Amino acid sequence: MLKENDLIRPMIPADIEAVMRIENATNPTPWSEKIMRDCLNVGFKCFSLVVDGAVMGYAIYVLSLYQCHLLNLRLDPALQGKGYGSDFLRFCLKETLKAGVGWMVLEVRPSNPAGIALYTKFGFTQIAVKEKYYDDGDGRFEDALIYGLWIKEDKL
Ligand SMILES: CC(C)(COP(=O)(O)OP(=O)(O)OC[C@H]1O[C@@H](n2cnc3c(N)ncnc32)[C@H](O)[C@@H]1OP(=O)(O)O)[C@@H](O)C(=O)NCCC(=O)NCCS
Repeated sequence: MLKENDLIRPMIPADIEAVMRIENATNPTPWSEKIMRDCLNVGFKCFSLVVDGAVMGYAIYVLSLYQCHLLNLRLDPALQGKGYGSDFLRFCLKETLKAGVGWMVLEVRPSNPAGIALYTKFGFTQIAVKEKYYDDGDGRFEDALIYGLWIKEDKL
């Protein structure tokens, strides 16, 4: 759970080293550093979670006219399971509403109980499955569960 001196602020290029460390530690198919930098450069919404002065998590989403697509939300393993993910997702949902968008969509692996628990807690429901969405190499694939939520301010 966010403490007094923790903050969520726009990601800056100097955060990328820590972002990549977390990405590599938590994503079975990590994004490249180039993709991370491109996200910043093309104007995707990129935020960093700073705890005790260190970048310990990040979120990246794309806003279009009617939809927010949450592309990435990750915490340093040391921070997981302590409520930070809930606070970070709540922040993203509020920012999305502030931008005038009320629908959020995302993909999550069926093998990710923490991700599924987080999204379910906020009221997301499964709306589709993308078969073999994640390419884990060596001919191995995993489906993606597509979750969606109509964001309600009074439920945040
Ligand atoms: C997914 C992630 C962002 C969740 O953040 P978090 O800080 O660990 O989650 P929280 O502590 O806020 O917990 C949210 C809810 O999920 C539950 N939960 C957390 N970890 C869980 C786990 N491993 N298994 C089952 N439930 C879990 C909590 O009990 C909590 O529910 P509650 O408030 O009703 O008790 C974080 O674990 C993470 O970065 N994981 C690796 C990256 C990842 O999977 N990102 C999502 C990709 S779609």
